[in-house]
Amino acid sequence: MLEKILKEFDLDYLACQDKTAYNDLRVKYLGKSGKVTDALKEIKNVPNENKKAYGESVNNLKVLIEKRLGELSEKLEAMEFEKLMADMERVDLTVPNAESVGSLHPITITQNKIVEIFKSMGFAVEDGNEVETDYNNFEAVNIPKNHPARDMQDTFYLENGQVLKTHTSASQNRIMRKYGAPLKAIFPGRCFRNEELDASHENTFFQLEGMMIDKDISISNLIYFMKTMLSQVFGKEVNVRLRPGFFPFVEPGFELDCSCPYCGGEGCSVCKKSGWIELCPCGMIHPRVLEMGGIDPEEYQGFAFGLGLSRLAMMNFEINDIRVLNGGKLKQLKQIKTK
Ligand code: PHE
Repeated sequence: MLEKILKEFDLDYLACQDKTAYNDLRVKYLGKSGKVTDALKEIKNVPNENKKAYGESVNNLKVLIEKRLGELSEKLEAMEFEKLMADMERVDLTVPNAESVGSLHPITITQNKIVEIFKSMGFAVEDGNEVETDYNNFEAVNIPKNHPARDMQDTFYLENGQVLKTHTSASQNRIMRKYGAPLKAIFPGRCFRNEELDASHENTFFQLEGMMIDKDISISNLIYFMKTMLSQVFGKEVNVRLRPGFFPFVEPGFELDCSCPYCGGEGCSVCKKSGWIELCPCGMIHPRVLEMGGIDPEEYQGFAFGLGLSRLAMMNFEINDIRVLNGGKLKQLKQIKTK
C-alpha cells in the first residue's frame, strides 16, 4: 500500500507546475486526511508484531515525501522568478555608458568663486544685459558721442541703435538707479568688441564689475577689497599696486596690478618676468557718473573695478589662448583640468 502511495506521489510530482498545484499536492499527502496521514492512522489496524516495521515504513515515506515537497517548492519558486525576469523590461548594466559627464566651464568656475567671495563681503550680485542702449554702454559712463574712448571699444551695432555691450560698466547706471546709495554690488557679464582675434583677444569675453558707493569711500577701500579678493582667489596673500590709467568714468583711474601668485614676485613666464600681473582696471567713480545714476556726488563717493574674468580663468587653468574658451572645440576644452 505504501508503495502505491509513493508511485502516485511520483506521478503527481511530475505533473505539478505551479504553486496552487503544489499546495493541493501537499494537502493530498500530508494534510489532515491526506494519504500519508491516513496511512499513519492505519497503524491501529496493523497486528501488534508488525506495528514497529509498519510504523517505520510510514515514517520513512513521510520523511521522503516531505523532502521531495521541499525540493519541489524551491524548484517552483526558481521557475516563477525566471518567468518574472523574462517578462520584465531588461536593462543591460554591462553595456558601457555612452553619455560622458561634462563639467562646468572654466569661466563659470572662476566666476562662481569670485561671486562667493564678494557675497561674503556683503555685495549684491546682479546680472546685466548683453544688448545695451548706447546710453548705458557709453553716455552714462561719461563716453559721449565722438569721444575717442569709443574707438577703443568698437563693437557690434544693431540697426535700432543698440549695441552689444563692450564692458560690464554698461550696467553701472541701471544698478545705481536700482539701489541708490549706499550700494555694494558686483555684476559679471559677457562682453563683446570688434577685435582682431589673436591668443589674447576675442570678440566675446567675460568681465566682472564691482561698485561700492557710500560716504567717505576712498582709494584705500578700493585697495583693501581688491587685495582681499585676489588673495582669496589665489589662495595666498598677494600684494597689489596701482598705476595711473585712463577711463572716462573714473577719476582718478588706475590699472591695478597683482603680485604674481605663481612666482611670488620673482618673475616667471606667467608675469612675463615682471613679478606683477595687470588684472583689474579700476578707480574712483567720476562725479558725473554718480550724478547720471541719480546719486549726489557731494554726499557720496565710490569705487568701481572691471575685473577681466576671462583673463583670470586663463591664469587659473593655465590656458594660453583665449580663443579656446569660446571656441566650442571640445577636444581643446577637455584638456583643461577643471577638477
Ligand atoms: N570698463 C572698463 C573696461 O572694460 C574697465 C573699468 C571698470 C575701469 C571699472 C574702471 C572702472 O576697459
